[in-house]
Amino acid sequence: MSDRNLQSAIQKIQQATQMIPKAGIILGSGLGGLSRQIQSVAEFPFEKIPGLKTSHASGHEGRLILGYLQQQPVIAMAGRLHRYEGYSSDEVTYPIRLIRSLGAGVLLASNAAGGLNPKYCVGDPIILGDHINWLGQASTEASPPNVRDQSTGFLQSGSNFYCSQLTSLAISVAKKNDFSAYVGTYLGTLGPTYETRSEYRMMRRIGADVVGMSTLPEVLLARRLGMKTLAVSIVSNVANPDSPSTANHDEVIRAGQQAGSKLEKIIRAVLDNLDNQVA
Ligand code: HPA
Repeated sequence: MSDRNLQSAIQKIQQATQMIPKAGIILGSGLGGLSRQIQSVAEFPFEKIPGLKTSHASGHEGRLILGYLQQQPVIAMAGRLHRYEGYSSDEVTYPIRLIRSLGAGVLLASNAAGGLNPKYCVGDPIILGDHINWLGQASTEASPPNVRDQSTGFLQSGSNFYCSQLTSLAISVAKKNDFSAYVGTYLGTLGPTYETRSEYRMMRRIGADVVGMSTLPEVLLARRLGMKTLAVSIVSNVANPDSPSTANHDEVIRAGQQAGSKLEKIIRAVLDNLDNQVA
C-alpha cells in the first residue's frame, strides 16, 4: 500500500475537516447503526478515499465518518474490509494506518461472532481478552523492520493485544447497565464459510470462546502502531456443535442490530474516559 495513497487520503480528509480524532471505531456486521449517533463533521464512502477499497460484505455500509460522540472527536468506519472479500491483509488494515496517521491513539473494534462458549447467549458482548489467529500473516505493514526482533528478524509477540484497563471498564459498564458481558478468546478465521459442527467442536476444545472472520489484522496493526485497543464481539449465533442448524448471514446481521445498544453503552463509556487512555 503506497505511502503516496496514504498522504493523499490524509490530505483529502484534512481538507474537509481539521478535527483530530482521538479514537478510531470499527463498526462490524449489523453494528453500523451507531454511526448515526455521531455528530458528523465529514463523511466519505470508502471508495472516495485514495487507497481505500470498497466493502462488498452485506451489512457493511462502507462509510468513513469523522465527528463527535460524547463530545470526543472520533473517526468511525461503518463497515470494514475482510480477507474473504479477496483483499490482502495490507488492504484490510489500510484504514488503521489512516486512522493512526490522523492522530487516533485508541482503537475500538467491534464484530459479530459465533458464540462457542456454552454460557454465551445471542446478543451478549464478549470483550476480547486474547485471540487465536487462523488468518495467517497479519499484514506486512504490521511488521515494519523497526519492530522486528533485532537478533532473529521475527516479530515480537505478546498476549497483551487488548488493553486491560479498557476491558475492565467495558465489563463494569455491563454490570452497571444490567446486561451480561464476558471476557473471552476470539478465534479469527479467513472465512467466508461458517463452520461445520466438527469445526465448532474443535474450536471449543482448543479454548476459543467466539469465532469470527475479522478484527485480528486490524488489532495487530493497531498495536504495532502503539494504539490502545478494545475489541468487542457481539454473539450473533450460538455456535453449538450439537445443533443441526448452521449460522446464516441474515441472523448475524439481525443480532448485531438488536445488540447495538449494548455496544453503544460500552463505546460511550470508553469515550467518557478517553482522556485517561490516549497512548
Ligand atoms: N463463524 C464465523 N464467523 C461468524 C460466525 C460464526 O459462527 N458468526 C458471525 N461471524
